[in-house]
Amino acid sequence: MGDAAHTAHFSIGSGTKLALEDAIDLANEFATGLPIDDVLQHYEARRSIEVLKIQNAARNSTEWFENVERYAGMEVEQFSYSLLTRSQRISHENLRLRDAAWLEGYEAWLAGGKAAVPPMLTPFTLRDCTLKNRIVVSPMATYSAVDGVPQDFHLVHLGARALGGAALVMVEMTSPTPEGRITPACTGLWNDAQQAAFARIVSFVHGSSTAKIGLQLGHSGPKGSTRVGWEGTDEPLAADDPHGNWPLLAASPIAYGEQNQTPAAMTRADMDRMTAAFVASAQRAVACGFDWLELHCAHGYLLASFISPLTNQRTDDYGGSLDNRCRYPLEVFAALRAVWPQGKPLSVRISAHDWAPGGTTADDAVAMARLFKAAGADLIDVSSGQTTRAAKPVYGRMYQTPFADRIRNEVGIAAMAVGAITEADQANSIVAAGRADLCAIARPHLADPAWTQHAAAQLSPMAAAHIDWPAQYWSGRDQMLREISKQKQVLAQVNQAQAAIKTEAIE
Ligand SMILES: Cc1cc2nc3c(=O)[nH]c(=O)nc-3n(C[C@H](O)[C@H](O)[C@H](O)COP(=O)(O)O)c2cc1C
Repeated sequence: MGDAAHTAHFSIGSGTKLALEDAIDLANEFATGLPIDDVLQHYEARRSIEVLKIQNAARNSTEWFENVERYAGMEVEQFSYSLLTRSQRISHENLRLRDAAWLEGYEAWLAGGKAAVPPMLTPFTLRDCTLKNRIVVSPMATYSAVDGVPQDFHLVHLGARALGGAALVMVEMTSPTPEGRITPACTGLWNDAQQAAFARIVSFVHGSSTAKIGLQLGHSGPKGSTRVGWEGTDEPLAADDPHGNWPLLAASPIAYGEQNQTPAAMTRADMDRMTAAFVASAQRAVACGFDWLELHCAHGYLLASFISPLTNQRTDDYGGSLDNRCRYPLEVFAALRAVWPQGKPLSVRISAHDWAPGGTTADDAVAMARLFKAAGADLIDVSSGQTTRAAKPVYGRMYQTPFADRIRNEVGIAAMAVGAITEADQANSIVAAGRADLCAIARPHLADPAWTQHAAAQLSPMAAAHIDWPAQYWSGRDQMLREISKQKQVLAQVNQAQAAIKTEAIE
């Protein structure tokens, strides 16, 4: 009966388990004595959620086998880990429950030494820049700038996160021109006042923490002249807004939404002016001392508007094929690479999937990554969507990580995963399986500036030892570790007591 109800691909070996669970559940429902229609409805409602999870895992597993050549270049240790975690239902800590000694051996192998280190706390080097671990504070607009100048809010906000244990703190999308800002409260880097304010923030991060700090440069394009996030993301400024609506530029004259302005299609002269503005900003970023630069080519902003076929309807050399659509973003990228110091990483954020009919897909993302790699990109920061209001993303934990996995392992370039990564266990699994090199964590860092320190403390005292806290906070760290250890002891006692009660009941 169970087998007739649901099935899952055999590659995770859960078909029989699923069938037995289905049958047991149905029997239990009948035992309630409710009318048969209610029994079947309750059964269906409860089981379909669990079955979907198993079927998703089975699909992941099938895809892993179907694309096994993607992982064939890995060393055998990592290949085995990738195989074991292919369904994404078995995480790092789950593997520890099954075979702690094996996992510790793998952690030590991955860390390149004798001691086991949680994968997310291993260092990572690109060019001359070594990050102390794999956790990045993802760029997040704070809508708190005045005339493009970052304020004390930015110093405290970014400073706190630099003290909080992440290896790299990315500054929000910062525009090379006044019109390139998303909102009137977004940051810019086109004048001396902005440069001085950013230099102060960089100097604090370098002087008081062991984190690196990066700048994300981007122009809002068709999504510009809009309101601060909490007044309506992507909605145009009110007609009586003191800043006035400013004219927009994009690849093609396609408005982002019914209420948004229709942008002007960029002319060749616009492109030259814009590239020069990006270069000037990058030069200012060099002067500020930033460690890392990222070009924002995602989320429907100016450069993304060239890449997606849904927003690029040009008939010149900058429209049509993916190669053509990437031409202008690649021009800007190459111009940045020419002025950005050779020893410092330059990354690019892309939308790996438009999540909309006729839009880009993961196959296109792989092709885009190849183009940016050839242009000298050091890492692809793999986001998705936000390029069209028609998008219907399929959300879920780590939902964009499969795109990073494809890019890293098919193109052979470093990749940053982002999106719904909320737990250390997930970050450890992603890094250990070689699905991405870095994990960018956004919203959890709004809730907790010290996410990395706190996540490491929860993992184990050994993990906590691998992460530096500012000396000023050591007594807080020690107390936190003691409290966590006590909580774990209590939990272990509760588990033991429960097990004893169960055994007694059976006897
Ligand atoms: C308030 C807020 C502002 C954001 N601003 C930016 C930004 O400036 N640049 C960017 O590339 N992504 C931006 N994002 C997207 C995040 O960097 C990240 O990709 C997204 O939130 C998914 O990660 P999460 O699930 O960890 O939050 C923003 C997200 C939030 C929540």
